[in-house]
Amino acid sequence: MKWENGVYLVLDQLRLPENISYIECLSPEDVARTIVNMNLRGAPLIGAAASAAIVLNYSLEDPADFRELFNMLLQTRPTAVNLRNVLEEAGCLYESNRSKTASELRDVFKTFSDHVHARDLERNLTMGENGADHLESIFGKKRLKVITHCNAGALATCGYGTALGVIRSLKKRDMLEHVFIDETRPYLQGARLTAFEMVCENIPHTLITDSTASWVMKTEDIDIVITGADRVAANGDLANKIGTYPLAICANYHKIPYMSAMPLETFDLSIMSGRSIVIEKRSDSELLFFNGKRIAPEKTAGLHLGFDVVPAELIHSLITEKGVISGGISEEKIAGLFK
Ligand code: MRU
Repeated sequence: MKWENGVYLVLDQLRLPENISYIECLSPEDVARTIVNMNLRGAPLIGAAASAAIVLNYSLEDPADFRELFNMLLQTRPTAVNLRNVLEEAGCLYESNRSKTASELRDVFKTFSDHVHARDLERNLTMGENGADHLESIFGKKRLKVITHCNAGALATCGYGTALGVIRSLKKRDMLEHVFIDETRPYLQGARLTAFEMVCENIPHTLITDSTASWVMKTEDIDIVITGADRVAANGDLANKIGTYPLAICANYHKIPYMSAMPLETFDLSIMSGRSIVIEKRSDSELLFFNGKRIAPEKTAGLHLGFDVVPAELIHSLITEKGVISGGISEEKIAGLFK
């Protein structure tokens, strides 16, 4: 994303990799639409975009308007907690600046939004190094074969990425052999976005269907499976793109460590376990139609869940900007990251 003459420009991820084009956002509703329609996606990026949406609001002095804006943005997508966490930060900022004029408040929120974007990149760079250190401590300087799912890269964040940030850091250390990318139906974030990032970075990679992953684990000497996360509960259960749960099960069956990388912003310590995570249910037309043409019989209904939840016992390591926890994920270890 970028700002140009007071307009927030959102890279349209639905048009990648063929087209690099931007959607002009002139109002908070414009930003909200890009989130709902998946032009912009990925847990940290959704949070950052919400901070920019506030800057585009012209009646900031009115607390009722601010609350309405807050709720409108919060409802765009339910699973990734980064959105709520950034909005709550903005809410505190609003409370402590209530006496300011609308234009002063806009300046306050522009500074805040720039900070949210910049700090996400910083966190990812640190997370990438933490992840690479952790992997070096397990595998030495071995060049690793990795499976990843969906897109947890520069495109899902404000740069560098979470899971792909670790992969980028491995590449820098010459510790990367190959990346297998799940295509991730129906939006094909793996095929369109992760593969695009791998091409840009000159990283050796192969695209597979999600259902190929277990066979690749059996036949390709995979060293690790690594994904991002959209919400991590206090006990370590985590929600990520649908298909992550079976991936973690298969990784455990094959004794391959399943790891996930995320900033602390992705933790939701207010919920004890993954049972309380709200799973986004999207329109079944996104499954039933392909390229505008119906692919299933008229009388067939679809179930399109955006996310699933991986129980903590299947997780080998959680990689954050504050450090890595592994060797059994527990509430105590997670609480330790926040000290
Ligand atoms: O539906 P999406 O594309 O927003 O889902 C994205 C994911 O599930 C990512 O893996 C997650 O947000 C982590 S991104 C750093």
